[in-house]
Amino acid sequence: MNVLLIGSGGREHALAWAISRSPDLSRLYCAPGNAGIATVATLAALNPDDHDGVIRFARERQIGLVVVGPEAPLVGGLADALRAEGIATFGPSAAAAQLEGSKRFTKDLCRDYSIPTAAYESFTDPNAAKAFVEKTGVPIVIKADGLAAGKGVIIAETMDDANAAIDDILGGAFGEAGASIVVEQFLTGEEASFFALCDGERALALASAQDHKRAFDGDTGPNTGGMGAYSPAPILDDAMSARVMREIIEPTLKAMRDKGCPFSGVLFAGLMIDAEGPKLIEYNVRFGDPECQVLMMRLKSDVLALLRASAEGALAGQKAEWHDQTALTVVMASRGYPGAYEKNTEIGSLAAIDDDDLKIFHAGTAERTAGWLRPAGGSSMSPRSADRSPKRSSRAYAAVDRIDWPGGFCRRDIGWRAIERARGMQNERPRIGLA
Ligand code: AMP
Ligand code: GLY
Repeated sequence: MNVLLIGSGGREHALAWAISRSPDLSRLYCAPGNAGIATVATLAALNPDDHDGVIRFARERQIGLVVVGPEAPLVGGLADALRAEGIATFGPSAAAAQLEGSKRFTKDLCRDYSIPTAAYESFTDPNAAKAFVEKTGVPIVIKADGLAAGKGVIIAETMDDANAAIDDILGGAFGEAGASIVVEQFLTGEEASFFALCDGERALALASAQDHKRAFDGDTGPNTGGMGAYSPAPILDDAMSARVMREIIEPTLKAMRDKGCPFSGVLFAGLMIDAEGPKLIEYNVRFGDPECQVLMMRLKSDVLALLRASAEGALAGQKAEWHDQTALTVVMASRGYPGAYEKNTEIGSLAAIDDDDLKIFHAGTAERTAGWLRPAGGSSMSPRSADRSPKRSSRAYAAVDRIDWPGGFCRRDIGWRAIERARGMQNERPRIGLA
């Protein structure tokens, strides 16, 4: 089968690498892709917003499955357009992508189907929102309803911060995405992510992960798209994962069916876990990045068979098998990220570092001259180590240290939470880095 993958991040490089190992694959195309993806797929200069262009390409190249990586084309209806033309597509319809595209949609669904989540109210009127905050007190969480590039969530510690966030979002700081807000209870506990493959009817549990959103060691500095991740998340043991499936994922699939927009694709549940159990913080309707990189490193089963079963409503009887080892990824990004950073810095040759147990996944890189790469995006690439436990993440750091990129940086403490848990000192931060 020929496959077209849409996207250009580390997530898509990891997917492309895993798909390229499938015995059912004939040719793999990726649009727009990056320099790393070009080693396992043929790049195509397609714009995912140009649905007709993507359909034309899929017909010409006899594509049997389109795999959509990022959320924006899904929210924009690419999967609907392809399916309307009879082209099998992995990823939800625009209607089902509201689970990520509208926080209010998801919160209302949780309320209607008794899915555990933070207590909340939605508002379009700033005064009503402020009166609510006055009544409930701080800390409190203010969220823009729509997609806001990860910046639409404000955890307000003071009344002033809460009021400023309300004015900011409803005042247009995020455009249409901030036409309404969700104000919700501040949850405490341990965060973890859970991934389930869905085919509209059924869900197949995949695996768990934890990421590191802050830019600097010790979970300090600004929020980023993710500076590292590992899988599995120790807090999501078998019993807790079964609860997530029963209390969160399965009722969500039922709700989506009832609403007439069955969900197919991958559900990425951001969870807060406390003594009562798991609560849903948010849904994403695609694989996480960098989380997808560690999932693909651990997946033993044929990913193409699984993605295809999800797209074709045929998950019944499918199984996902995993390597027991922990996979851990360290993201290297341009110095300055997530703020302003220098573009077009050079990265020396990476090929010699890569093997089957340690992959370097690129995000937004382009090849300039032979062997030298130009990172176009913020986070650029992530070595991964398939070591048995994150305490041996030194393998990933040994790889990082061999990467010749003076313009790049990374965190040195990826995996600290799992490492501390293994040492029985949960929630304490390591005093020294891990390298
Ligand atoms: P979101 O974009 O909804 O994932 O939110 C971004 C981050 O904000 C989450 O990963 C959490 O760390 C934090 N967050 C969001 N909602 C809450 C909440 N109700 N309580 C505590 N932290 C939250
Ligand atoms: N790493 C978080 C995300 O992909 O949304």
